Amino acid sequence: MVVLKSAREIEIMRRAGRIVARILAEVRARIKPGVTTAELDRLAEKLCDDHRVEPAFKGYLGYPYALCCSVNEEVVHGFPGPRRLQEGDILSMDFGVRHQGYFGDAAVTIGVGRVGAEAGRLMDVTREALTAGIAACVEGGRLSDVSAAVQRRAEENGFSVVRQFVGHGIGRRLHEEPQVPNYVGDGRDMKLSQGLVLAIEPMVNAGGYAVKVKEDGWTAVTVDGSLSAHFEHTVAVTGDGPRILSLP
Ligand code: MF3
Ligand code: CO
Repeated sequence: MVVLKSAREIEIMRRAGRIVARILAEVRARIKPGVTTAELDRLAEKLCDDHRVEPAFKGYLGYPYALCCSVNEEVVHGFPGPRRLQEGDILSMDFGVRHQGYFGDAAVTIGVGRVGAEAGRLMDVTREALTAGIAACVEGGRLSDVSAAVQRRAEENGFSVVRQFVGHGIGRRLHEEPQVPNYVGDGRDMKLSQGLVLAIEPMVNAGGYAVKVKEDGWTAVTVDGSLSAHFEHTVAVTGDGPRILSLP
């Protein structure tokens, strides 16, 4: 069942999304060579206390941390830990909170110091793919328009979109219907209506789209070892067009 949100609910989700964006921005400012991903996770969790919000991921289906930190060939759901970031790494940080009963969810991929040309292009294209998907979030459009916009942007640049993980509806639950694939398949489609709120989250690989989950049960990596980037925003379909809720 797809749950549409009232204008009042969207205002609460905007507040949740704003806190997500502000915390991600603060954590991002700490990224530099030598920092461990565990330090970033601890900071994100402390900032949740400061903002009086609950981290959305910690404990979700047993996920142990507030932040997901996925480095280089790691796609999503990487565990923060003692790994020290190195110049040239790319780090995807995925983060969500619950605030006044509603969730916000966002992700960014950041270069550590100077990164290689391919890594830079992969991050740019993935960010642009998200922007293209957001632009398709209009009343009367179709969910497959969002998927197609993301996929086109990634593939026309020679990259591939991950199929094993998808975006999602979001609201009182972190994951609601519908699923938001980053590719056009033969799955269900739907008309987009006012009040629909989606977490759009392209995961784009420099090589093939295949991913596998490591022995920890969570960390997804590219099968071919190629780099992967991930960007995500929480977006509402409104009478005035797409509204990004997860901005600072
Ligand atoms: N943005 C991701 C998602 O929507 C983050 C989930 S991590 C988890 O699936 F730990 F909560 F699963
Ligand atoms: Co999400």
